[in-house]
Amino acid sequence: MSRSAHPAGPRHADVLPEGHYAAPPADLNALDAKVWARTVGRDADGVVTVGGVDVKTLAEEFGTPAYILDEDDFRARARAWRTAFGADADVFYAGKAFLSRAVVRWLDEEGLNLDVCSGGELATALSAGMSADRIAFHGNNKSAQEIERAVRAGVGRIVLDSFQEIVRVAHIAQSLGKRQKVQIRITVGVEAHTHEFIATAHEDQKFGIPLAGGQAAEAVRRALQLDGLELVGIHSHIGSQIFDMSGFEVAAHRVVGLLKAVRDEHGIELPEIDLGGGLGIAYTSDDDPREPHEIAKALTEIVTRECEAARLRTPRISVEPGRAIVGPTAFTLYEVGTVKPLDGLRTYVSVDGGMSDNIRTALYDAEYSVALVSRASDAEPMLVRVVGKHCESGDIVVRDAFLPADLAPGDLIAVPATGAYCRSMASNYNHVLRPPVVAVRDGEARAIVRRETEEDLLRLDVG
Ligand code: LLP
Repeated sequence: MSRSAHPAGPRHADVLPEGHYAAPPADLNALDAKVWARTVGRDADGVVTVGGVDVKTLAEEFGTPAYILDEDDFRARARAWRTAFGADADVFYAGKAFLSRAVVRWLDEEGLNLDVCSGGELATALSAGMSADRIAFHGNNKSAQEIERAVRAGVGRIVLDSFQEIVRVAHIAQSLGKRQKVQIRITVGVEAHTHEFIATAHEDQKFGIPLAGGQAAEAVRRALQLDGLELVGIHSHIGSQIFDMSGFEVAAHRVVGLLKAVRDEHGIELPEIDLGGGLGIAYTSDDDPREPHEIAKALTEIVTRECEAARLRTPRISVEPGRAIVGPTAFTLYEVGTVKPLDGLRTYVSVDGGMSDNIRTALYDAEYSVALVSRASDAEPMLVRVVGKHCESGDIVVRDAFLPADLAPGDLIAVPATGAYCRSMASNYNHVLRPPVVAVRDGEARAIVRRETEEDLLRLDVG
């Protein structure tokens, strides 16, 4: 397990956990199916291919660095979530993980809904033709303009995040002559990351309305009084990169407790419950994520059981996976620029991107894997740190990994599982241009987000 990786959590000391990477992998040329997109393999010459296209061709055509996304894998994962939850539940893909118009169309075709959390994401979804009633609008500080746009467009639901927002959305909807479907996001006192979760009475964070102290019940009371709102359910999101289902169990128990209190006080049973996203993926071979059907079964059982105990009709369940759908479907393709052995320590391998295309290592101490992909090699393993080209020593892409000792400038290496929160969190730090996202399928490759150019960069600089 990735003990030092705490996505979206606190930073840990810059030390390897004991026993971690104690030994190099048995075969450096092997590509662990857990961390690589489904159609990835090596051809007879040892060159890695994806969707029937080899990485040398991709590098020639699109340049490096580039995010290479396996479209079939994306569609298969989206479909697996949809199928696992079935017709009585909804799957909202969390666009913050990665969103583009092509992705919106794929989701549409595979029958998923979409969670957006900003005006920009909403605009992307609408411009790709996603039907507004399949969009949920999130965010802890949506602007009045964003709310108005969402209400006018007719989004399926707005997830209310504060007392001020309850009134704000009600007012805007009413002034537009509409009644907006809403859920209230509550914080249930559960924080889950990776293999652990903490259940507390209080939660010290910016999202949602605390269940503690009767605040969530008060929010329901207010929402039910306002003509502009149709309260349809309660929302809870407990964290990121979660493998352990017990955090969801506690969350569901507490959410159902609120539904019961609402029924007892108001005589209504809210018809929906959203348990958010946060399901983990494999970044390294040590991670063991659950399959969508196991997650669907576990979540459905938990909610059904809790509702039976509370004598409530089981509400319609929805979930919001982002990382679990797009994360494993892409890898970042880099060209090696320099190889710098530091005696007795490790070898620094510099690539042509870095923290501008993957901030997760610097920000969360996230762990990644890496492989030489432009050829196979029989050379001995060497311990490397893959670093970027930015003017900052914390510009690390892969903290500790093994690559063949004959690695040389010009080789292509790839970091798998970078589909989620890499392009979407990319920056222009040092005026480095953001890489393209290239979708590959059935021997065809096309940029679904093109590479940024110097012209793009200078267009914003009005002098
Ligand atoms: N729903 C809500 C309300 C969320 O806040 C999030 C993520 C999701 C769904 C999707 O979570 P997922 O299934 O993708 O884990 N930048 C961080 C992750 C931040 C997640 C924020 N909220 C990272 O790179 O790990």
